[in-house]
Amino acid sequence: MKYQEFYDHSISNPEGFWREQSEKIEWYNKPSTILSKDQNGYPMWFEDGTLNMCYLTLDKHIQDGFGDQVAFIYDSPVTQTIRKYTFNEVKTEVAKLAGGLLALGFKKGDTAIIYMPMIPQTAFAMLACARIGVIHSVVFGGFAPNELAIRIDDCKPRGILTASSGIEIDRLIAYKPLVDEAIEIATHKPKKVVVFNRKLGAKIPFKKYDVDYDALVYGSEETACVAVESNHPLYILYTSGTTGKPKGIIRDTGGYATAMQFSMTYIYDAKPGEIFWAASDMGWAVGHSYIVYGPMINRNTTVIFEGKPIKTPDASTFWRVISEHKVSTMFCAPTAIRAIKKEDPDGEFIKQYDLSSLKKQLLAGERCDAATLEWYQKHIPVPVIDNWWQTESGWPMVANPMGIEPMKIKPGSAAKVVPGYDIQIFNENGEKLGANEEGLVVIKLPLPPGNMIGLWGNLERFNASYFSRFIGYYLAGDGGYIDEDGYIFITGRVDDLINVAGHRLSTAEMEEVVASHHSVAECAVVGIYDELKGQIPVALVVVKSGETIESFQLEYEIVQSIRKKIGAVASLRNVVVVQRLPKTRSGKILRKLIRNIADQEDFQIPSTIDDVTIIDEIRIALAKAKVGQKSTS
Ligand code: COA
Ligand code: AMP
Repeated sequence: MKYQEFYDHSISNPEGFWREQSEKIEWYNKPSTILSKDQNGYPMWFEDGTLNMCYLTLDKHIQDGFGDQVAFIYDSPVTQTIRKYTFNEVKTEVAKLAGGLLALGFKKGDTAIIYMPMIPQTAFAMLACARIGVIHSVVFGGFAPNELAIRIDDCKPRGILTASSGIEIDRLIAYKPLVDEAIEIATHKPKKVVVFNRKLGAKIPFKKYDVDYDALVYGSEETACVAVESNHPLYILYTSGTTGKPKGIIRDTGGYATAMQFSMTYIYDAKPGEIFWAASDMGWAVGHSYIVYGPMINRNTTVIFEGKPIKTPDASTFWRVISEHKVSTMFCAPTAIRAIKKEDPDGEFIKQYDLSSLKKQLLAGERCDAATLEWYQKHIPVPVIDNWWQTESGWPMVANPMGIEPMKIKPGSAAKVVPGYDIQIFNENGEKLGANEEGLVVIKLPLPPGNMIGLWGNLERFNASYFSRFIGYYLAGDGGYIDEDGYIFITGRVDDLINVAGHRLSTAEMEEVVASHHSVAECAVVGIYDELKGQIPVALVVVKSGETIESFQLEYEIVQSIRKKIGAVASLRNVVVVQRLPKTRSGKILRKLIRNIADQEDFQIPSTIDDVTIIDEIRIALAKAKVGQKSTS
């Protein structure tokens, strides 16, 4: 079937379309109701079906005779380790860990936080939770204790699974003290902390809630998968929102399993048995869907890579991994390619490796700029598949449907709308725009299976954030347009979220931290263009009158407090002291104007601006601080 026919079927008969797709996964009880509504009127999928995600990713493949196939390749340049695990081995470890968790008192419906680096034990922990119906919430290891504490208080986990350390390019990061500090800060106190000791020399302060991971697994019996309802939450994944508090996206089980299988087949065209590598982190949406659940449900061997595209040890690492493990599909953020391109502009490293196994390169997490796409295509002639999605969707909404009908690539566009999604472009008044007219990206309900089913404990915010502006539509938070051929171009966020090296961060959250500095009267944090990371945050601060703090000292203290309260991953390095901030006459800070000035873009002076002379003041302050696109180059 061709793309258009396939797509039209998904929109004209969603129930028929998704019933057919749901039959491609194994259920304990097949759903008879395909699409229904929850008590708040939100569309839900496969209500009366029961299944288990861990069964689909492990036990099923073993029953089908693939127990000896390699499930995980753990490749860690930072510890110089390569280790392979078969489906049999993973299942044994996961089933024992799940048995251990039951013995510790975890039960179906409890939550567990997983705060771990890119090691197989992170995936074991996720799958062990799924096996017994415990809802996991993986927190990215780059977040500071304060951020971890916010998540502990929000999802109130029975316990936390962690490892002794993570490793960054230049340092070992001891995780256990961070977990202890987070528990200290949080009001909710988890009962157990399971610690996997990597034996790399990190300090592991002992607390009475600690349980040793190895001892737990060694001393436990394997436990079987429990059947869960289709809408039983598989996981909560926190992502930045436009306020200081992150949103706990809830993912169901049955819809997600169906969507994972669908995307592996029809979008990525990944064949079972092939080697699939997503160089993301299990703490992000890409990691959940395309390091763990997607490839595993499709019986791919998945690569768990603990390293960076550069400096671990150099810009050849990606090509070494592809050639050594015969990777057929590779997935990363464009920023990773930009980092490699910067270190190896002529692609000298690429020539040293046999990349003949590679069939396609997937990109997501941020817009792929034309120069990066061009560089990649020049050096590696495989299709580059950009795909647009969000933590909320859990899988692509716009992509090149390789398993249906591969399409011509148009630079700047992630190609066409994915079957199941009815994407439209609205103006501010909710009127549908025509071809090539830029506006707000919205999606008509129902969203297809696999999308979030709520925000943890916060129905009001769920409705207010996504569904209240245009009734019957999901507001994506991105701007974009659709061209005359139906190609969708995503032009960037229309809210206060920024995308730093493929990581979604909230400027509102950073503003809260900056504003809490005792010398700061008021501040604005905006995301400005960065050649490597796509965007980086910059803080403009107005110092309280009478304060005598030196600018460099203030900058140092603010940068440190962002690292301490949010994490180094926020990458805030520039703090610019200004006399005042640009505002409207009603006192609203004109953040977009600051961004336009820093990026040296053409802009219209807002008609509501309080005092137009501020524009030059900001321009001069940014130039003096060497902040902004051209002033830094
Ligand atoms: N634990 C602790 N600290 C972490 C961390 C983790 N898991 N991940 C990042 N950090 C720290 C880094 O050490 C760095 O600290 P520093 O300021 O002291 O140097 C800071 O957070 C910023 O990290 P990062 O964004 O990774 O920048 P970098 O300069 O170290 O590397 C890139 C730049 C482009 C190579 C890197 O950002 C990258 O590989 N990006 C791809 C991102 C990606 O895969 N995103 C997933 C979406 S698909
Ligand atoms: P996250 O929820 O962390 O996956 O971030 C989602 C946001 O990243 C989206 O709302 C977009 O702003 C941006 N994004 C992700 N993928 C793409 C893409 N392929 N093209 C453009 N923007 C993207």
